[in-house]
Amino acid sequence: MSVSFQPVRGMRDLIGDEAQVFTTSIVKARQTAECYGFCEVITPHVEPLELLSAKSGEEIRQRMFIFKDLGGRQVALRPEFTASIARLVTTVLRNEPKPVRLFSVGTVYRYDEPQKGRYREFWQSNFELMGSARPEADAEIVLLTNNLMMSLGLEGYVFKVGHIGVIRGILSQDGVDEKTQNAVLQKMDKKDYAAALELVESKKSRAMLEGLIAIKGCNWRETVEQMQSYVADYPSAKGAVGNLGEILGLIGESADIDVKVDPAFARGLEYYTGMIFEVYVPQIDIALGGGGRYDRLIETFGGDPTPAVGCAQGIDRVAIALQSQKVSRAEKSVKKVSVIPITEALKPQALRIAQQLRFAGVAVEFEVMGRKMAKALEDADKRRVDYAVIVGERELKEGAVMLKDLASRQQSIIAVEKLVEKIKN
Ligand code: HAM
Repeated sequence: MSVSFQPVRGMRDLIGDEAQVFTTSIVKARQTAECYGFCEVITPHVEPLELLSAKSGEEIRQRMFIFKDLGGRQVALRPEFTASIARLVTTVLRNEPKPVRLFSVGTVYRYDEPQKGRYREFWQSNFELMGSARPEADAEIVLLTNNLMMSLGLEGYVFKVGHIGVIRGILSQDGVDEKTQNAVLQKMDKKDYAAALELVESKKSRAMLEGLIAIKGCNWRETVEQMQSYVADYPSAKGAVGNLGEILGLIGESADIDVKVDPAFARGLEYYTGMIFEVYVPQIDIALGGGGRYDRLIETFGGDPTPAVGCAQGIDRVAIALQSQKVSRAEKSVKKVSVIPITEALKPQALRIAQQLRFAGVAVEFEVMGRKMAKALEDADKRRVDYAVIVGERELKEGAVMLKDLASRQQSIIAVEKLVEKIKN
């Protein structure tokens, strides 16, 4: 019986151009990390379940790939990076001078219902800035996301911004316990406002939330001003709005970014304590990235009190956005060449020429199938190779090879030492 194996549901193979888009996005994320002073760390895909579930929230807890390893330990595939990075900062990096800026990229796992832009294995680039409670740290994270979106070539993207301290501030002052607050925020994250309000017993709090949901402004300044007067009797929520205004002021003064404030915005992750945001493009209605401030997570993991803010971009969704905006890949900077020996006996010389080209930064596919020249050239065409270098006995005796430009179909005899120059120019 023959079996046709498929990837596990919700997981994908990425091949050719599709893989290339991911690689390019990862390179851009890494360049952004470098540009903003972030140091890359690589952490395990598998972590203790306790760590991953501590403050992630019900939504993530329900969707983790959990298993017992052979030693009987309860472990899970990471559903995100933040918990792992927080673990680092409470252990090996505990004594690092603050701020600590850490970047990671890789696959994460959530048992979501598979659909376009929602997978069970997906890629994130992730940035965490730890040790500063100041608004400029929040601004840096938003500016960095803006920089990355721009460098990817995306256009028309919008930042949706809110502050979890506003909703929590209202609910706490009216005596709503933290567990109920978390449940309310989960519903608000899903925009199921009716269900969220139903969970709030305090009439005052319910009315306040209803009013908050209804606030709409023409621009972020106006929305923040409306929020400010709306929560005037709630000191903690008022402080949160003030903080949001400060962060947005810094962003507005340093970059031209399209920001929309959503006063009732909540995110599924439970660890957030301050400003939160997501970034969208008009073509697709799912977030390309998101993040926010989480000032108590590191403490919860046994570390010193360490305020922190971070974000992650979903590379699978970035790839969909790039495709929907028809952003073409950057021109190939490296020339691609096929090196084809005409006879078996010429293989060593042909391999030597292939190596010389590679050392000079030319990408070479060596003819490893022993095909006749016509077949090998046909194949080179299919593989979108720029040049074929045909190594023949007659030319080689003169220290030369035949160079065929596969786009123009022109060919000429070129001295081996002139080959790199000719191909590169
Ligand atoms: P998140 O919003 O859960 O945040 O995920 C970040 C991004 O990952 C999303 O905006 C989305 O692009 C992508 N994503 C999420 N779920 C899926 C899925 N099932 N399939 C494809 N892409 C998906 C976090 O993970 C936080 N750790 C971000 C953060 C870092 N906050 C502070 N520091």
